[in-house]
Amino acid sequence: MKSRRLVAGNWKMNLNRQEAQALVSEIAGMLQDETMDDFPVVIFPPFPYLILLANQVRDAARIRFGAQNCSAEQSGAFTGEVSAAMLSSCGVNYVLAGHSERRALFGETDAIVAKKVQRILEEGMTPVFCCGETLDQRNGNLHFDAVKRQVETVIATLSNDHFKKLVIAYEPVWAIGSGLTATASQAAEMHTFIRSILTERQGEAADRIPLLYGGSCNENNAKELFAAANVDGGLIGGASLKSRSFVSIVKSFS
Ligand code: PGA
Repeated sequence: MKSRRLVAGNWKMNLNRQEAQALVSEIAGMLQDETMDDFPVVIFPPFPYLILLANQVRDAARIRFGAQNCSAEQSGAFTGEVSAAMLSSCGVNYVLAGHSERRALFGETDAIVAKKVQRILEEGMTPVFCCGETLDQRNGNLHFDAVKRQVETVIATLSNDHFKKLVIAYEPVWAIGSGLTATASQAAEMHTFIRSILTERQGEAADRIPLLYGGSCNENNAKELFAAANVDGGLIGGASLKSRSFVSIVKSFS
């Protein structure tokens, strides 16, 4: 479905300020292509660059900005944390929640991720909620169970209104930064499974939720992955750090 399309770049903890500013200018310039279909392109830079970059490319209509994380708490004595309300007050549109690096390296449980998604929605922003199985889970044929648990924990806490605003990224952990990509049929199979979980909860409203694929998606495999059933775009890590690669992934949709 065309209206679900979205491509996002997750810069992770990379680039200094000058590099970040140069990259966003290049991307904005290359995206000024009138022939391209119109769908949002979201960039997730590190926190300190969010406002700076948003001001820098204010006229680039299709570029939105998102934060890579936010606190599960509302406010108070949580040194080093950034709240959803702060991000929203700075004009941030999207926030990642549940990225596998946050889960594996920073101990984020499904319950914490669900709380973050809730905070992001309460502040009127769009959560890009990430789910995906580990290699052990896939090898043990537990990948559907793992993803189902992650998705159901999050959607169980949402009102019907909030549910409709979700964006979900399926990112198999074994594919992230590894050069191993899910095949188009593996992606289609899991995305169709996720869509069925959403439909069970909310009927037709589930059809509007964008399901992105992430995990070593690049300019060579994006076209095939994006053509797979229920794959509505991508969450791009490594390849989003090079303007040419990232824009060519975006263009593989047009
Ligand atoms: P990758 O990362 O494209 O470098 O595999 C994707 C992600 O972590 O979101």
